[in-house]
Amino acid sequence: MTQLIIYYSYEGNTEFMATKMAQSVGADLMKLKPLNEKKFTGFMKYVWGGRAAVMRQKPKLGDLSHNIEEYNRIILCTPVWAGTFTPPFNTLLHSYDLKNREIGLFCCNAGGMGKVFTNFKRLLSGSKIIGELGILDPLKSDREKKVEQAVNWVKSL
Ligand SMILES: Cc1cc2nc3c(=O)[nH]c(=O)nc-3n(C[C@H](O)[C@H](O)[C@H](O)COP(=O)(O)O)c2cc1C
Repeated sequence: MTQLIIYYSYEGNTEFMATKMAQSVGADLMKLKPLNEKKFTGFMKYVWGGRAAVMRQKPKLGDLSHNIEEYNRIILCTPVWAGTFTPPFNTLLHSYDLKNREIGLFCCNAGGMGKVFTNFKRLLSGSKIIGELGILDPLKSDREKKVEQAVNWVKSL
């Protein structure tokens, strides 16, 4: 089986977990890199990012490092923004057809996952969803325990 872990991360939590999961199962790892991304902190970060998520913006992405067509299992890893997935996944899922693939859904969040998985599944109607996991900000607390949970999850799929 060929397996690809695709992630976007603004502040490192999702990147950290996606990297650990990829290492644990020998999956390939690909980061979504929006062009012209703004780096805000504090309140402005929520205004900018929250708006982009609610508006379902589709930011232009830099070249993808892997050919998605070659993988039959794909794990999508996103931070939760305004109760949904982050805008780079709008771009990705409107550009690529992931029908008939096995898809795992993973998110990092601060305690309110909202509709992140429901919204993902709406765009993935022809895919086979094989699992869902949400983890609370791993870089803030219990890092090792959370890595173990995510690694066990991805291995169990
Ligand atoms: C713009 C913005 C909106 C967010 N909205 C939510 C939210 O609705 N629910 C939640 O639990 N966390 C929310 N968060 C927190 C992040 O999902 C959480 O800190 C996540 O671990 C960050 O992942 P990252 O470090 O990979 O960017 C938001 C963060 C940002 C920047």
